[in-house]
Amino acid sequence: MILQHRLKANSDRLDIELVKHYGNLPQVECYAGQQNQVFMNVLSNAIDALEESLANNQAQITSPTITIHTEQVDTDQIEIRIADNGLSIPESVRQRLFDPFFTTKPVGKGTGIGLSISYQIVTEKHGGSLSCTSEPGEGAEFKIRVPVRQEVSKNVAIGV
Ligand SMILES: Nc1ncnc2c1ncn2[C@@H]1O[C@H](COP(=O)(O)OP(=O)(O)OP(=O)(O)O)[C@@H](O)[C@H]1O
Ligand SMILES: [Mg+2]
Repeated sequence: MILQHRLKANSDRLDIELVKHYGNLPQVECYAGQQNQVFMNVLSNAIDALEESLANNQAQITSPTITIHTEQVDTDQIEIRIADNGLSIPESVRQRLFDPFFTTKPVGKGTGIGLSISYQIVTEKHGGSLSCTSEPGEGAEFKIRVPVRQEVSKNVAIGV
């Protein structure tokens, strides 16, 4: 909802289509505000990537699309995948995606902290994993896995 205005077509480009494949998810114990920050970061990166692809007139991008999958992968884990069909991410960039202050965006557009904070939230705060795959010519996909329940011992460790 918050990013809706960024999906709309404007004078420079087409609409970005959002395709939702939402599975049946159980209630998940989490820091909801922080998890929302993760989704915002990953989604806004996908929009940036599509805008950049469109601006560069990439022939492959005739229908800019973001696809979201959610599913329960086993009894105690859920998975959220957010994929775009923008420019793929070269290996050299992929290795540094989660580094603090790593950005390929112009000064004033990106600070390079979105994914490093997201990584911390998913792995350290929730005991999950955040990873990215990207095949040449096929855009990028970010995969977030989080446990359905937080262990009490971990909550103590992070000061809850
Ligand atoms: N979906 C994507 N497609 C292509 N490149 C991506 C994608 N998501 C992230 N990246 C790359 O990873 C880099 C780091 O992303 P990150 O969100 O951490 O920082 P940023 O978007 O540059 O700045 P900000 O701090 O404003 O989020 C980006 O600059 C971009 O090069
Ligand atoms: Mg970002």
